[in-house]
This record gives sequence, C-alpha cells and structure tokens, in this order.
Amino acid sequence: MADYRFVATVAPGAEEALSAELSSLGIPAKAGIAAVLFQGSLEAGLRACLHSRIASRVLLELSHFPVRSADELFRSVKRIPWHEHIDPDSTIAVDFLGRSGIIRDARFGALKTKDGIVDRLRAETGRRPSVSPQQPDVQINVHLRNNHATVALDLSGQPLHLRGRGRATGPAPLRETLAAALLWITGWPQQQRALLDPMCGSATFLSEAAGWAAGLAPGLHRERWGFDAWKQHDPFLWRALQHQARQQLRDPPSSPTILGRDRAGSSLGAARSNLMRYSLEAWVGLAVQPLEALEAPDGAGVMITNPPYGVRLGQVNELHELYATLGDTMRRRLLGWDCWIFCGEPALAKKVGLRANARHPLKNGPIDCRLLHYPIAASAPVGRGRS
Ligand SMILES: C[S@@+](CC[C@H](N)C(=O)[O-])C[C@H]1O[C@@H](n2cnc3c(N)ncnc32)[C@H](O)[C@@H]1O
Repeated sequence: MADYRFVATVAPGAEEALSAELSSLGIPAKAGIAAVLFQGSLEAGLRACLHSRIASRVLLELSHFPVRSADELFRSVKRIPWHEHIDPDSTIAVDFLGRSGIIRDARFGALKTKDGIVDRLRAETGRRPSVSPQQPDVQINVHLRNNHATVALDLSGQPLHLRGRGRATGPAPLRETLAAALLWITGWPQQQRALLDPMCGSATFLSEAAGWAAGLAPGLHRERWGFDAWKQHDPFLWRALQHQARQQLRDPPSSPTILGRDRAGSSLGAARSNLMRYSLEAWVGLAVQPLEALEAPDGAGVMITNPPYGVRLGQVNELHELYATLGDTMRRRLLGWDCWIFCGEPALAKKVGLRANARHPLKNGPIDCRLLHYPIAASAPVGRGRS
C-alpha cells in the first residue's frame, strides 16, 4: 500500500490541538507551523478530510525541491508525472503561498507552476487542462519556504470549515475549524460535560460541540472534494469511510446539556437554523437571555465564549462594561465552572478582573487573539485579581 506524506493546514496556534485530534482519530501526526504533518495510506488522508473538525485543508505532498531560480521552479514542477494525477480535460488552479528573493510575487510563482504542469501534460497527452481559479476540478498547492517548495494536491478542495450545508451567520461569527480548535484546547470534546456559551451568536462553538457529541463526521454532508477528479482517487474506499461514519451517529439526549444564550433573538434564529441544517437542534438548548440576567444551569461544566472585542463589533470603550459583567457573572454565578474567553483585545480582557491561569495565543484570520482560561473555584468568594 502506498505511503503518502500529508500536510493538514490549521490556524496558527492550533497546531497541537490538530495533532492531538488526528492522533485521537488513529492518525499519528507531528505539529509544524500552521500545519501538521502525517504519513500513511490514502485512507489516512481521506479519514482526516472526513473526520477532522480542526484542520483547514488536507494536502497530499507530490514533491519537494529547492528553488534557486524561476526556471528551476518550472523545471522541477514539470518533472512531476502530472498525467498520473490530472486528466488533461479537467480544470486546475494553483494556490501559491510564500515568497523568496527570487519568487517575490505569489502570482508569478503560481504562473510558473501552472506552466510546468501544462507543459508536462501536453508532452504526455497532447492536451492541456484549462485554468479555473474559482471552482477547479483539481487544486494544486505550492508552499515556498526557505527557498524550498512543497507541491501538493489539495484533497479538501474547498476549505474544511465549509461543512457542506451552508450556514446562517450572526455578527462576527467564528470559523467552524477555529471554534473546534478552541473547544479542543478546553478539553471539552474529550470529557463532554455541560457546555455553556452565554454570548453564543450563531452558535459556532455549540454546533461544533453538538457535532462531536452526535458522532457527526464534519465532512459527512460535503458533496464536493478536491480528490473527486484526482486520477488516483479510490471511490470505493471513500464510500466505505462515509458508510462507517454514518454508523457512528448517536441519538440526542432527552434534555440537552449544551446551552447557548444571547441577548439578540436574531442571532439565536441563525443559530437554530444552523443546527437544523445538520439535524443537531435536539442537542442544544438556546434561549434569549442577556448576560446580566444569566441563570446558571445546575451543576458545573465548561463555559466558553467569544464576546465582541471591538474589531468588528462595537467600540472598545463601550465594551469595558460588558467584560466587567462577564467577570462578575463567572465569579458569582458559575462557581465550579471551567471558564474560557476568546478575545482579541488585551485591554478588554483585563476588564474581566480575574487572573487567567493560562493564555493560548491563536490567530483569528489576521487578528492576534488569546484563549484565556479562568477555572472558577467551587465555593465563593473569588477575589478580584489582575488579568
Ligand atoms: C462575537 S459575537 C459571538 C459570535 C459567535 N461566537 C459565533 O461564532 O457566531 C458576540 C455575541 O455577543 C452577544 N452579546 C453582546 N452583548 C451581550 C449581552 N450583554 N448579553 C448577551 N449577549 C450579548 C451579541 O449579540 C453577539 O451575538
């Protein structure tokens, strides 16, 4: 059985979470920079596509070589036996990331790569693929770093945060893959205790959590993949993996312990519609409730929330009060809860008025964020400290 090298890309800061998630899926993996590496049969790559909630893309490495000139890039790309991977009648696109002293512009790198692919295919078959940047049949990914290029086939095609049935959004929604990474860091998927998001918006945390609890493979509802038109794709293996994934689906509990609150009814409408698209509505209890009036559920569990932090929602000054209220609510009403706040504005995080015992740096798109951990003691009072 062929042994392939795979690269799963991920939001910076979530590499360890993805590596642990893949290991839990039986795919031993090594964390890199904004990526996780693993090796194995095609099945390992397809399983990562179907089951990883955290990976952004899964790439299958085709070649790795030095790039000391633009011509070397072209010639090394042309050496790859593209006719074994791509039908010349299909469409392609090249996603080129990184730059060097020689390849200063990613568009130039993409053009040289495309020329190498087209030349080789024309030499082998007498035909050439056309380029379709938006919806290619086969997407090629090139990553240039330290004057070395890695050329890979993108097995995911569309990024994996697209779970297949679309999504309604509230203000400033999180990406599904990032929300899943944050949940993983809290330890919730491994324990599945009660979960509460008191400012849940369109409920990205909660729908990812519900998917985990329901045993719903995140790729099960996707219909288009980057490997569909790959000449070495194994549709029998893929169908067998989908079949196994369907067998793992679980029934919802009689009363949900995954809970979402928000002051905005419109956000909860989006949340409900998202859960229904994936038949997850019975796993999550939603209610309109402002943070100021939060009624803590019985028992303890994990609270995670992504309050507005002023970049896309509200102004920093107006939000000081909200963060102070959040700190008070955690201290007074969430005794014994493991509380986590995802925030991109340190000045606001300070307003929580509690000392975070861990801070995980992560990127939310271009924004530097922190996932802050506040374990709240089971008995009051918890004094004010510095964040
Ligand atoms: C950044 S959004 C959360 C986005 C969410 N994580 C998602 O992925 O859709 C912040 C949410 O906080 C809610 N919010 C703001 N102030 C609130 C308050 N005082 N009580 C409850 N919810 C509040 C907003 O309505 C908004 O939905």
